[in-house]
Amino acid sequence: MNSLNVQRLRKDFPILKKKVNGHNLIYFDSAATSQKPKQVIDGIKYFYENLNSNPLRSIHYLAERATEAYSDARDKVAKFINAAPEEIVFVRNTTEAINLLSFALPLAKDDIVATTYLEHHSNLLPWFNLRNKGVMVEIVDVDKNMDLDLSYYEDMSEKTKLVTLSHESNVSGTINDAKKISRIAHKKGAMVLVDAAQSVPHLPVDVKELDVDFLAFSGHKMLGPFGIGVLYVRKSISNQLSNFLSGGEMIKSVRLNDVVYADLPNRFEAGTQNIEGAYGLGLAIDYLNAIGMRNVEKYGHALALELFEKMGQIKGLEIYGGKSRNFGAIAAFNVKGLHSHDVAYFLDKKGIAIRSGFHCAQPFVEDKLRVNGACRASLYLYNTSHEIDTFCGELKKIVNTYGRG
Ligand code: ALA
Repeated sequence: MNSLNVQRLRKDFPILKKKVNGHNLIYFDSAATSQKPKQVIDGIKYFYENLNSNPLRSIHYLAERATEAYSDARDKVAKFINAAPEEIVFVRNTTEAINLLSFALPLAKDDIVATTYLEHHSNLLPWFNLRNKGVMVEIVDVDKNMDLDLSYYEDMSEKTKLVTLSHESNVSGTINDAKKISRIAHKKGAMVLVDAAQSVPHLPVDVKELDVDFLAFSGHKMLGPFGIGVLYVRKSISNQLSNFLSGGEMIKSVRLNDVVYADLPNRFEAGTQNIEGAYGLGLAIDYLNAIGMRNVEKYGHALALELFEKMGQIKGLEIYGGKSRNFGAIAAFNVKGLHSHDVAYFLDKKGIAIRSGFHCAQPFVEDKLRVNGACRASLYLYNTSHEIDTFCGELKKIVNTYGRG
């Protein structure tokens, strides 16, 4: 596991020095939110002490600096996913990005939106809400390895206007072949939205290579602050979208009977934005670029293999991930005979942070894993082999003491 210097980079994350319940913190909940390096934490303080003002409005010195900072952040995000700066719409998070689209897309009665069983609620509910205007929602199934049924896309109806899928599942860790699915969907005339909340932090994502129309992700899962997210919108189709929120700075001119709206991206950024968040996200991208996303991906893959291999040796566990064609370092599991919250509680007593429950993906957990909750260990670039060993050691003790394996 030498694609990055983990011991050196761990020093950048102040929270990793914390003791939790008397133990060294082992943070295995990065799919929920990542920890932040001091470069991001200090950068946000720098913003407020040196640049703070409302961008795009006033013309004084500070307003110009804040405008530059906001625009630089957009440039960094664009470059990071190989888009043009104007194709980057800042939102609060992935959820808001998908909701925005569900309002803005020209979807009408009898149109089909094809989403999948692997989705987070935020890529289900915005589409379910459209059922009240007659839009039909179809759910692409998964096989026993948690890979999507690609034959659905080959056979799908011409009424399918939008194909949407997670790039990486937040429960099974499955990494879907978004490029292939996008190619099939476009042949059938559908637009493609990828929920990249779990992939952009972990692997190089290139919107041109994937050839998608929309891509959504959140800053807080990729070392950045909360409250800032991104919706990539392919410029050539942006004129098919209706407005979402209306207000300041999303217009060119307003008269009482005549409004001229701004172009992409401002048309979708009404009101004062999270400038500090965008600035912090830019710093997180600098941090990831300095390591190199290929190295981040390689390291994550090595962690995933080691995690599944070591967990696989523990009798008395049910492990749900690690079987798909391609997967990330997200391991959903249960200790036979115990509820996931109990396992999370026992691990927390040893300073190990995981998530338990439905993971905002109840249909997947109930219908496909066939359980009423699961534990989830999700790792990132600051995690180590030693932490995996400690985690597995504690899991073994839980199995031996309380399990029914
Ligand atoms: N979507 C985040 C998770 O999977 C919150 O935990």
